[in-house]
Amino acid sequence: MSGNNYASPIESILHEGRVFAPSEEFRARALMNDPAEYERLWRESIEEPDAFWSRVASELHWFQPWQKTLEWDCPWVKWFSGGQLNLSYNCLDRHVASARRNKAAIIWEGEPGEIRTFTYQQLLTEVEKFAGVLKRLGVQKGDRVAIYMGMAPELPIAMLACARIGAPHSVIFGGFSASALVDRIHDCQATLVITQDGSFRKGTEVKLFPVVEEALKACPAVQSVVVLRRTGTPIEMQAGRDYWWHELMATAKPGTRAEPLESEHPLFILYTSGSTGKPKGVLHTTGGYSVGTYLTTKWVFDLKEDDIYWCTADIGWVTGHSYILYGPLQCGATVLMYEGAPNHPQLDRFWDIIERHRVNILYTAPTAIRTFIKWGDEHPNAHDLSSLRLLGTVGEPINPEAWMWYREVIGKNRCPIVDTWWQTETGHMMLAPVPGVVPTKPGSATRPMPGVLAEIVDKDGNVVPDGQGGFLVIRRPWPGMLRTIYGDPQRYVEQYWSQIPGSYFTGDGAHRDKDGYFWIMGRVDDVINVSGHRLSTMEVESALVSHPAVAEAAVVGRPDEVKGQGIVAFVSLNHEHREAGMLPGLKEELRKWVSKEIGSLARPDEIRFTEILPKTRSGKIMRRLLREIASGGEIKGDVTTLEDFSVLARLKEEE
Ligand code: WTA
Repeated sequence: MSGNNYASPIESILHEGRVFAPSEEFRARALMNDPAEYERLWRESIEEPDAFWSRVASELHWFQPWQKTLEWDCPWVKWFSGGQLNLSYNCLDRHVASARRNKAAIIWEGEPGEIRTFTYQQLLTEVEKFAGVLKRLGVQKGDRVAIYMGMAPELPIAMLACARIGAPHSVIFGGFSASALVDRIHDCQATLVITQDGSFRKGTEVKLFPVVEEALKACPAVQSVVVLRRTGTPIEMQAGRDYWWHELMATAKPGTRAEPLESEHPLFILYTSGSTGKPKGVLHTTGGYSVGTYLTTKWVFDLKEDDIYWCTADIGWVTGHSYILYGPLQCGATVLMYEGAPNHPQLDRFWDIIERHRVNILYTAPTAIRTFIKWGDEHPNAHDLSSLRLLGTVGEPINPEAWMWYREVIGKNRCPIVDTWWQTETGHMMLAPVPGVVPTKPGSATRPMPGVLAEIVDKDGNVVPDGQGGFLVIRRPWPGMLRTIYGDPQRYVEQYWSQIPGSYFTGDGAHRDKDGYFWIMGRVDDVINVSGHRLSTMEVESALVSHPAVAEAAVVGRPDEVKGQGIVAFVSLNHEHREAGMLPGLKEELRKWVSKEIGSLARPDEIRFTEILPKTRSGKIMRRLLREIASGGEIKGDVTTLEDFSVLARLKEEE
């Protein structure tokens, strides 16, 4: 890995002493409420994983039982070998054959205010029909399907239809640009794209089809595009390639059955940022992912049959895959899904939704919580939030102040908070409290979930003493772990299994306290986490360097009160553009350029022109120094490898 500094010790500075046990009322009703029993099960999950996971897996439907629970040849894993199942069957058919048949599976609210409800039976019918449409368009088991949509209910229908016929989907977040789309479609070689004309956000239209159209100029392998009509904006379709969703569905019949799939059959590819420029296609397979998302949803959200559960993530990210769709539907939950922005038409939209739908469980991100704090307590206070009984967070470290605000202002000191640590790669939650048995501490994702053997180690893999910072690693395989990087097994081995041989390297720094609680301290590699979205500094750098005025760029994160991290880009300009660099217009142009190249989520907050970047003698940019400069701090630590010392002084002057 480049640019990082694994040798330097990680200092942990957070000291938080508050502990909150669940209320007696919560505990009494909780699915898991005996700490000794939980302890016993956790131990069993580590010491006898076969027994533990077999029991969990047998709560799901299998067409063919598995022969071997776990085969582990580090770093290659197989879970439930010999077994055959279908995730769409476990999300739908299984419930339709039970008393849940007419229960609401998805309650969807559009940003303009419409509400659509799909019972399990209705959802199954739609999924069966769309699975038939996919087949009619030539999609076969194993073919990859790219999905570039907004938060319409047809998005989960499309995903479940892919899972039903065994066509791995790759959902690409609707905020990505055409060139990001091209990279991903190329990498997974998708032959069909599902999109929509546009989506609603903040009262305006986010155009989606035009982006696909532009991308497809560079993707000749794509044969068909299915377009959902959502905003009604006129679009020009290409005959023989583009089809309206509603026209295809008008003649589609239900009845497409769920294909029995091998446990290790690929389920989806989801692209995420790593410490090099090219996004990684994280591959998840069917059996282990199903079992892992099922168990974690059931235990961590403590689901009750009559709960309304709302995860505010976008399905374009892993949180939406695992905890809007696959985990909750396998549990037979009622999922609320909202299309738009939290500040439309007003700053109280979320609280209004909770009050109107009587939401019981809310799962959101720290960046959203910090934004709500900024908007003011009057917005949640104007609504009746008494239906809430459990709150969750994910995506980045939550600072104790934001945690306390969430507890007091939203949860009225009544609702436990589940801070859940996991990654695109882990597939499901890894560190999280089971709320009836694990007391919580503000800012800690608490303890490892069953089957998760997590440790904090130094660069040689030795466990560090409690309280000391180090690298978070996972020592044992778990069901939902990624199986590889699509098309690049070597990168899978290098990225995750080579830093600390034999252990999964998370890329996060953390420390563990004397009670065995984990405190995540953020990334230790060149990944920045902006509003819970992972971005590689390298991706933003390549986007900048592709602009004709830019010679070289180095991108770092700096702490940001709301977003967690903000993006600062140090840019040196080509000779002929140096003078132009004096023009403030170029900074804005570069920020827009990055939005166009990657998407607005990657737009730098600040651009600093500099003549020269600090490098080591071997030519690596010393991002650590830039990070310190960007956050306005003193330069600490070792600078002996710096090639040219005058650089630091000059960078400071250029501030
Ligand atoms: C960070 C999102 C602290 C972490 C599910 C991780 C967190 C990266 C937490 C994965 C949390 C996620 N506390 N940090 N509860 N949850 N992270 O792949 O740095 O988008 O490595 O998955 O987000 O981000 P990803």
